[in-house]
Amino acid sequence: MHIVIFTGAGISAESGLKTFRGDHGLWEGYRVEDVATPEAWARNAELVQEFYNIRRRAILEAQPNEAHKAIALLEEKHQVTVITQNIDNLHERAGSTNIVHLHGLITKSQSSIDPTLIYDIDGWELKIGDLCEKQSQLRPHVVWFGEAVPMISIAIGICKQADLFIIVGTSLQVYPAASLVNYVPSTTKKILIDPAADQLNKNYEEIINVSAKACIGVPMLVKELLSS
Ligand code: APR
Repeated sequence: MHIVIFTGAGISAESGLKTFRGDHGLWEGYRVEDVATPEAWARNAELVQEFYNIRRRAILEAQPNEAHKAIALLEEKHQVTVITQNIDNLHERAGSTNIVHLHGLITKSQSSIDPTLIYDIDGWELKIGDLCEKQSQLRPHVVWFGEAVPMISIAIGICKQADLFIIVGTSLQVYPAASLVNYVPSTTKKILIDPAADQLNKNYEEIINVSAKACIGVPMLVKELLSS
């Protein structure tokens, strides 16, 4: 069985990383337009670097939680693809081997003139003055608002092949990511694990809601999938 798991910030909440929306979310403390757009980078690259440096440091200090680990365990019995909107590397560090990062990966940098030049960042800090091999400033390897999502077509192809589709910890508000569920075959079972599942899921009646935190809901479901 090919299980596709689509995750958002909620799966990393219990690792101590902030979600974006809602009470005390990241976008309450920052304006998207100031830190996560190409215009913000052009206006004030220092502020953008600082925003991602702070987050990178928090991510490197965080540990994968029981939900990330349970998803990795699923590979013992099933073909598993994780499609994540998260820019943290907690799925990798939990042991998942097949991961699509729709919005990039904060532990990498990319050239600001050639997005195909991508590098690992050593440590938590990317500085003004750190250059790519073409001598242009390095920026975080993340997809900003207003930018294309290069991995979306690969993700769509994966969703079309899903035998089971599990959504964890996302408000399904950001497109094109949120549209992925529409590419999953209508006959494929879809499950949403999120404490706010009942409010979120009004537009998708065919999805089964599990109103639980990731560290409760995911291990329970994985146990069932490994034993059946
Ligand atoms: N377990 C599971 N889900 C949780 C938990 C938890 N412990 N805590 C919170 N959640 C849920 C919330 O109920 C909410 O539905 O996580 C979801 C987080 O939603 P958002 O903050 O909107 O994050 P996400 O959906 O990942 O955002 C998508 O928006 O800002 C951009 O690029 C950014 O990738 C991000 C995208």
